[in-house]
Amino acid sequence: MRRILILSAFLVAVLSGRAARAQQPQPDPAKYVGSETCANCHDAEAKKFESNPHSKLALAHQGKGVSCESCHGPGKAHSEDGDAAKIFNPAKATTKQTDEMCLGCHAGEHANFDRSTHAKANVGCSTCHSVHASTDNSDKLLKVDQPKLCFQCHTDVKPFFDMPFHHKVNEGLVKCSDCHDTHGTMGKTNLRSTADQNAVCTKCHSETRGPFVFEHAPVKSEGCVGCHTPHGSQNARLLNMPSINTLCNQCHSPVAAGTIHGAGTGSQESHPCITCHTFIHGSNVNPALLR
Ligand code: HEC
Ligand code: HEC
Ligand code: HEC
Ligand code: HEC
Ligand code: HEC
Ligand code: HEC
Ligand code: HEC
Ligand code: HEC
Ligand code: HEC
Ligand code: HEC
Repeated sequence: MRRILILSAFLVAVLSGRAARAQQPQPDPAKYVGSETCANCHDAEAKKFESNPHSKLALAHQGKGVSCESCHGPGKAHSEDGDAAKIFNPAKATTKQTDEMCLGCHAGEHANFDRSTHAKANVGCSTCHSVHASTDNSDKLLKVDQPKLCFQCHTDVKPFFDMPFHHKVNEGLVKCSDCHDTHGTMGKTNLRSTADQNAVCTKCHSETRGPFVFEHAPVKSEGCVGCHTPHGSQNARLLNMPSINTLCNQCHSPVAAGTIHGAGTGSQESHPCITCHTFIHGSNVNPALLR
């Protein structure tokens, strides 16, 4: 049973692409030695591996889950003489080879990985994760915690999180991965989302979700980013524009003087639209979003 698990994982994983897989001869079960043998020479890796999420599962299945050879392939030949050339080392493999090996088991939860901007840019599993040398406190085997991990490459977005108004990512209250799935999504910019484009925001800001009897049309049509900058902003409430009235008048331009609004209302910052139109995301009682 253990051999079958090891074999199927390794087959799917390392022995390359789909076409090649069909032609591969079945690897010989006698080429596997089991993790105990590896531990004889790799004490450090084996000890540390006991607290690895991969081995937690192995324990839960009486040791029949993930073993050293699930990722490193058959190790008998290597175990005889310790020859590095006789064992698969993801640290020395190409990004694609390692990704395929990992996806041999993780394709289910990360089905969009090949399509992701990261995969296309050659950023692979081992760029962000390390099976043996993770320093992350969570159990996700990250090399470095978020957001530090992400800022190593995305220096362009970093300044936004230092602006006067920002999602508290640096403070640890919100994570990049609350909004993005770095493993790829069907949406643009790797945003976690469903058919409802706003779900990425409304899962936390549920009061804006609706449905409302009187919707404010752009909340659905433009989405939250129609008025808000998600990472950080110089403007209160993460608004896209410093002046609320300018923001509103992009579409309601300009609210005419002499109407119910009274002369000049629409242009005076001292009297912003939202002092009256307080239910800006939608209302259940008032069509003009007044209450
Ligand atoms: C008899 C001792 C011995 C056993 C048993 C053994 N190894 Fe090794 N292994 C070594 C030595 C020695 C090296 C270092 C080779 C070098 O640096 O040239 C090594 C290196 C490695 C490497 C790195 C290879 C590289 O390219 O740098 C991996 C991965 C590895 N072993 C995995 C395993 C696994 C998995 C098992 C069990 C299936 C195992 N080893 C069993 C002695 C052993
Ligand atoms: C889930 C997949 C996985 C499992 C299971 C696994 N390894 Fe590894 N191993 C890796 C990856 C990936 C690397 C490349 C370095 C890294 O990412 O930490 C690696 C690297 C190594 C190396 C080389 C270290 C170096 O610095 O080059 C050794 C030795 C090794 N593993 C031994 C083991 C032993 C012994 C076990 C079982 C106790 C084991 N591995 C289980 C994925 C795995
Ligand atoms: C043989 C199958 C197999 C292979 C190959 C494999 N994994 Fe896993 N991985 C698992 C299983 C099973 C778990 C435990 C899942 C759980 O606890 O729900 C796991 C857990 C993880 C976790 C932690 C998940 C969590 O929610 O805490 C990460 C991260 C991970 N694997 C990354 C990798 C990476 C990176 C590679 C390639 C270097 C890899 N895995 C290769 C089967 C595998
Ligand atoms: C750009 C960085 C990055 C890359 C590339 C990456 N991951 Fe992850 N991965 C993460 C982060 C960050 C998390 C933690 C998400 C969280 O905490 O919500 C994570 C979580 C996971 C988990 C736990 C389940 C989950 O979704 O939270 C697994 C399993 C995993 N990654 C496997 C992989 C595999 C396999 C690959 C390669 C095919 C890979 N990762 C590539 C950053 C990355
Ligand atoms: C090793 C460098 C590297 C790391 C680490 C990294 N990324 Fe990326 N990321 C890239 C590259 C390269 C691209 C594709 C080119 C681009 O759009 O910038 C990309 C693309 C993205 C995109 C899509 C951008 C777009 O315009 O479509 C998002 C979102 C993203 N990364 C978020 C993250 C998050 C969140 C993390 C941390 C969990 C992370 N990245 C870690 C290099 C990295
Ligand atoms: C509150 C949700 C949220 C958080 C937290 C978040 N992002 Fe984003 N991010 C978004 C949205 C929404 C977009 C798309 C913006 C647009 O379409 O105008 C985006 C766009 C991006 C892009 C594409 C380039 C750009 O600036 O538009 C990158 C890269 C990116 N985010 C990286 C990150 C990184 C790295 C982190 C953590 C440090 C992070 N994001 C945290 C929501 C978030
Ligand atoms: C993981 C939960 C989470 C997600 C997802 C999230 N937010 Fe937030 N958001 C928060 C928290 C927590 C705060 C309050 C931060 C603080 O106290 O400064 C906040 C603050 C805000 C504020 C400022 C509120 C104020 O009173 O100043 C706006 C606007 C906002 N978020 C919009 C968005 C948008 C748009 C999205 C989607 C792109 C989003 N949020 C996704 C948790 C989240
Ligand atoms: C038409 C522009 C517009 C759109 C679209 C929009 N907002 Fe707002 N939002 C505002 C304005 C204006 C404020 C400031 C209200 C105030 O200060 O009283 C605000 C305030 C907020 C606040 C602060 C708390 C509150 O209710 O005052 C949060 C959180 C928020 N918006 C989240 C969202 C989310 C999530 C979405 C998408 C579902 C969204 N917004 C779509 C204009 C918009
Ligand atoms: C991206 C365009 C856009 C922005 C920005 C915008 N709106 Fe709207 N607003 C609309 C549309 C479209 C409607 C629906 C008009 C209709 O049904 O006739 C609407 C409807 C309304 C209504 C209800 C009007 C009615 O006829 O029932 C009010 C009040 C309103 N908006 C106020 C505001 C305020 C205040 C702001 C600024 C915080 C704002 N809007 C920002 C596009 C926008
Ligand atoms: C002093 C309070 C007040 C301010 C400030 C205000 N409004 Fe109004 N607004 C109203 C009232 C009251 C109505 C009418 C409601 C009704 O007819 O039932 C209204 C109606 C509207 C309507 C519906 C169409 C119409 O013209 O009758 C829109 C759109 C609108 N306001 C947008 C705005 C915008 C944009 C701003 C800022 C530039 C703004 N309002 C500022 C009180 C205000």
